[in-house]
Amino acid sequence: MLPLVPLFLTTILTGRATATPSSSTKAACNEIAAAVPSRVWSNQLSPNYFSEVNSYWSTALRDAKPACLVLPQSAQEVVAAIKVLNKYPDVLFAVKSGGHTPNERHSSIKDGVLISTRDLSGVTYDDETQIASVKPGGEWNDVIGPLVERGVAIVGGRLGLVGVGGYLLQGGISFLSAQYGLAADSIVGWEMVTADGTIRTVDASEEPELAVALRGSGSQFGIVTEFKVKAYPIGQVWGGMRIYSGGKADEIYAALHNFVPGNAEDEKSAIILTDVTAVGGTRIFLIFYFYAGPKPPTSGPLAQFLNIGSMIDITSTQSYAKLLKSNGEGAVLLQSRVSFRTFTLPYVKEAPHMYSEISDKFRSLVSDILKNPLRLTSQCSIDFQPFPSIIGKHSQERGGNAMGISGSDIDRVLLEIQCSWASKNDDAIFREASKQLTDWLEVKVPEWTKGREFYLPYLMNDAAGDQNVTGTYRGYGKFKALQAEMDPQGFFKTRGGGFVY
Ligand SMILES: Cc1cc2nc3c(=O)[nH]c(=O)nc-3n(C[C@H](O)[C@H](O)[C@H](O)COP(=O)(O)OP(=O)(O)OC[C@H]3O[C@@H](n4cnc5c(N)ncnc54)[C@H](O)[C@@H]3O)c2cc1C
Ligand SMILES: *[C@@H]1O[C@H](CO)[C@@H](O)[C@H](O)[C@H]1NC(C)=O
Repeated sequence: MLPLVPLFLTTILTGRATATPSSSTKAACNEIAAAVPSRVWSNQLSPNYFSEVNSYWSTALRDAKPACLVLPQSAQEVVAAIKVLNKYPDVLFAVKSGGHTPNERHSSIKDGVLISTRDLSGVTYDDETQIASVKPGGEWNDVIGPLVERGVAIVGGRLGLVGVGGYLLQGGISFLSAQYGLAADSIVGWEMVTADGTIRTVDASEEPELAVALRGSGSQFGIVTEFKVKAYPIGQVWGGMRIYSGGKADEIYAALHNFVPGNAEDEKSAIILTDVTAVGGTRIFLIFYFYAGPKPPTSGPLAQFLNIGSMIDITSTQSYAKLLKSNGEGAVLLQSRVSFRTFTLPYVKEAPHMYSEISDKFRSLVSDILKNPLRLTSQCSIDFQPFPSIIGKHSQERGGNAMGISGSDIDRVLLEIQCSWASKNDDAIFREASKQLTDWLEVKVPEWTKGREFYLPYLMNDAAGDQNVTGTYRGYGKFKALQAEMDPQGFFKTRGGGFVY
């Protein structure tokens, strides 16, 4: 009973119980409930409804109460729900796997129909074909754990608690990307329910153009009920997290500047470099390290990082499954409203000062906000994620993805600008500060590159809802036409939420 207390409080304080879904939405919910018996919940107090709506990563999304929740257990049950939704053209819906996007109306829907893949989860593996069959529900821990027991892994999340479906559909950067490309690049087959409510099986070797579109376009082509993914051998790995004081900034950014182009010669190394501004404007660095082998190199670009003195060090040699699990453990505790925003930075050899300029600018935008004593638990950070052209090379070798990266591109760094805070009253202020940073970057980058222009597509996984991610893709026009062909009524595009073409 205890977990229900906060729900009652919220209901009383915000009057949310009085929110009314439209009569057609209620009718659609009833009809889906009849078509998929005992898989639909409308009562906010029922344990399934309650736990699903309260499992969004960003607590802000937990305010969006759907008119009903559908938990299909098979592709056929998804079909049944889609067929009903097709009869009610004004009813909105959303598809949720892990619920880790912080963007409103992506995997959440107030007063509409929420279809969650929670009960479509797990993995099976075929040694002979080296293909894993992966369901969209659950988290990366559920997928990587069983695979590692078989001596393999697929390219996927770096923190084990992240959701699977949305991650794979949006591209997905991984510790294994410098070896094998984005997570989506290794997908060779999809089972999905299309806009007209049919089950379509896509084999990348038979429909290569569609496969490219499906790798990184998000939720606009269908509700995916299973992915076929190429697996790769994995043994003991080295990695974990180290925390550094803000005073190490110069050493850390110098190491980053060498690492980005150096990654091509050392594909087994990966990092996530996070520059955090926390309480009262305090600065710390948090770096996740990965090496696809039992011992990290003692020379080269990764070693340069490892020589920098840290305050806390929880790196060790372990199984890949254990590493992902422990990487997520600190994050489990986060109970905050969250924003993501992305930017793709070109690697500019003669501008090693870029990173600290970006960091200084962001601190100037957020430190006064974070000094307010009412915001003690708030923080903002920038992740600097090396995105060397070797990732594009591996993507191309596998047929390519919607992001359109290739081996002949420049090296890049993907920025993930993140804030977390407690109060709804602060939603606008944090989102605006992140936007001011990307607006500033639009002006600064041409200065750093001295006007040279580069192809700089966004990684959908990290983007804010108002960023035109698909518009940054080389193949935008082609994918837009393909999407319209597969979704002529705009079923997904106008009613399903998420990023669109
Ligand atoms: C702690 C944390 C760590 C992260 N680490 C990484 C990382 O290492 N690399 C990286 O690239 N990203 C990372 N991300 C970003 C992550 O990829 C996205 O948040 C992604 O959306 C997570 O997938 P999900 O299943 O939880 O998505 P959801 O929030 O459930 O959905 C996201 C979008 O995908 C759609 N969708 C979901 N499932 C389906 C389906 N089965 N069929 C059709 N559409 C569907 C939804 O409708 C929605 O539009 C991280 C996020 C967090 C919070
Ligand atoms: C997104 O970008 C594309 C390509 O530049 C453009 O054609 C489209 O109109 C943009 N969409 C929105 C909503 O701004």
